[in-house]
Amino acid sequence: MESINAPASRPLTVHAATTPLAGAVAVPGDKSISHRALMFAALARGETGITGLLEGEDVLRTAAAMRALGAIVTRTAPGTWQVIGRGLGTLQEPDDVLDMGNSGTAARLLSGILASHGMFSVMTGDGSLRGRPMKRVTDPLSATGARFTSRSGGRLPLAIEGVADPAPLSYRLPVASAQVKSAVLLAGLNAAGTTRVEEPVATRDHTENMLRHFGAEVSVAPLGAGGRVITLTGRPDLVARDVAVPGDPSSAAFVLAAALLVPGSSVTVRGVGLNPLRTGLFTTLREMGADLRLSNERVEGGEPVGDLTAVAGPLHGVDVPAERAPSMIDEYPILAVVAAHASGPSRFRGLEELRVKESDRLSATVALLQRNGVTVDVVGDDMLVTGTGGAVPGGGLVETRMDHRLAMSATVLGLVAAEPVKVDDTAFIDTSFPGFIDLMNSIGAGLVA
Ligand code: S3P
Repeated sequence: MESINAPASRPLTVHAATTPLAGAVAVPGDKSISHRALMFAALARGETGITGLLEGEDVLRTAAAMRALGAIVTRTAPGTWQVIGRGLGTLQEPDDVLDMGNSGTAARLLSGILASHGMFSVMTGDGSLRGRPMKRVTDPLSATGARFTSRSGGRLPLAIEGVADPAPLSYRLPVASAQVKSAVLLAGLNAAGTTRVEEPVATRDHTENMLRHFGAEVSVAPLGAGGRVITLTGRPDLVARDVAVPGDPSSAAFVLAAALLVPGSSVTVRGVGLNPLRTGLFTTLREMGADLRLSNERVEGGEPVGDLTAVAGPLHGVDVPAERAPSMIDEYPILAVVAAHASGPSRFRGLEELRVKESDRLSATVALLQRNGVTVDVVGDDMLVTGTGGAVPGGGLVETRMDHRLAMSATVLGLVAAEPVKVDDTAFIDTSFPGFIDLMNSIGAGLVA
């Protein structure tokens, strides 16, 4: 069913799994790609068909926003959507506030689109999103000529006076953020001339790939060790093109981690997106000794996809370099849970960006582990986890702080803890992984909501 709900709180007590996890499942569509598919289709001329769309609350907010901006957005079957756009520059002024719910990606990418159309709009979000930094996009976007007024600290609600003839930007990212890169590139779509973004560390490139798919001219060149320069030619004729959304590797992470930890398990997740700028967790898990097997590799909708099978076995601690962080930025909470169970110490370096996610994920992940008897420290921007080499003590209450990934990480921890783990609220899981608890139960997790 297509609905946007203000979620009522859903507490959960997780008991250790009593049998191995087993089976083959598919996870919902990639969140990053789903947002972009709806937005870019609304900017393109003609009718785009999208299959495998994530129908989580975050993406439904984007669908509603694109409708409010004049695109015809229709759900024709589960995961299958049709978007009819009238072409770049034709968006209409929304007649009410755009509520982006919990979604930073929706808010930040949309800022680039709204700034580059000659109209007035206001964006808001839930308690989590209203606390997140927006200056990282409004600062560079102001150079287009657009004007922004926000609450103190650059926080939502945000009023935007967009410009019909935005100046093209040339911008070097001060933080490794695909959302900021995308906001600048999207503003460049409606600008005459060339938009240029330098990223010192490569971040997920779904915007670049999908803009090309819709007919834009985007070139990417290497910059130093591991960076990139992206150039976009403004005012392309964006034409509707169908999009097949792969399974979200960031969602598959929870299922695969549970399978690695619950003794005797073997679980396959089919059709997982394997864009190399998203697979840092899988590299790291293999370095920890994980038996993670890839099969059926293929390219679908321009993105590499494959089936991943996780087989439980002993794991050891790992030292994750800071340069890897952008390719696994959403995966640190679940990696911390895996590291707590592995033998020996782990160190995850360069996690400053975790402080500005759906929650302050650095402090929230530390609290999640400490409440459950795991030794964990933060030194500068690094997290240090002391692995127990087996079941963690558990028995704690985890505060999920409106953060879906903390709720899922806490659930996985509970499956391998000596004492039951209480999760204060699992409702936010619906933002990215509707059906998570049912899916986990289908492989034998035995969760009772
Ligand atoms: C995303 C980029 C990342 C990631 C988020 C999705 C995107 O955020 O954490 O879940 O779709 O571009 P940052 O750009 O803040 O790193």
